[in-house]
Amino acid sequence: MGPHAAASRPLTLSEQADELEERMMEELDDKIATKSVLFTLADGQTDMVSGAQLMAENPGKHFLMGADPRLPKMPEKPTLIDFFKHRFASTNHLLQSATHALKAGLDEKVVLACLLHDIGVVSFIRCDHGYWGAQLIEPYVDEEVSWSVRVHQALRFFPDESVGYRYPDLYVKFFGADYKPEPYIEAEYQRARNHKYYMTARLICVNDIYSFDPNAKVDLDDFVDIIGRNFRQPKEGLGLDNTPSSHMWRTLMWPTRFL
Ligand SMILES: [Fe+2]
Ligand SMILES: [Fe+2]
Repeated sequence: MGPHAAASRPLTLSEQADELEERMMEELDDKIATKSVLFTLADGQTDMVSGAQLMAENPGKHFLMGADPRLPKMPEKPTLIDFFKHRFASTNHLLQSATHALKAGLDEKVVLACLLHDIGVVSFIRCDHGYWGAQLIEPYVDEEVSWSVRVHQALRFFPDESVGYRYPDLYVKFFGADYKPEPYIEAEYQRARNHKYYMTARLICVNDIYSFDPNAKVDLDDFVDIIGRNFRQPKEGLGLDNTPSSHMWRTLMWPTRFL
């Protein structure tokens, strides 16, 4: 309880803010956690509080340069499964899509692609999620998997009668009946159509389950072996190795580091 808890009147907004700040500092072991510009852009602002200003507001404190104690603790050498458990905001959609692919008897690479297809959304950012997701996994999976995760984003918007894939009703609801994908998405689709891995990306769309069935039994354990065989887990830990996407995994680990 904060210092104001005994007061009989409700706290004013600025008292509430003080109390929140105080509690945050305790949880942060007296460090200053910073928000990157991306967080404020999402609130429609381009401002950034400068380091100097934050130091002036928090005399005697240092910036957080490691793990944020408010977030679940990551092991010393994190694996993909640790990110599933401790960083991804929600895994139901991924597990349900992958379970669908598994039950359909599809190839392991397709199942893995379904399991990872939206990790961009659940860990990082919605905009261009297929591209972000593919970049995250590219050094660790077969090219077929990362390529398919990248282009599923574009294929989602275009039907393919040969596999019974229609434009999703949900997209009409989400984006309006007159929504048209941007030219770069259309161009991605056109390039993908004749690519050797087209059908793997298309199968992500076919198995992309939108409505989470509360009775569906899904379990990450069902995919541990498939991950083990198809995702090259670095011995140093994901993010602590040296690949073109290691920094992205580190950012997921330590999103509030000052630098
Ligand atoms: Fe997606
Ligand atoms: Fe999806």
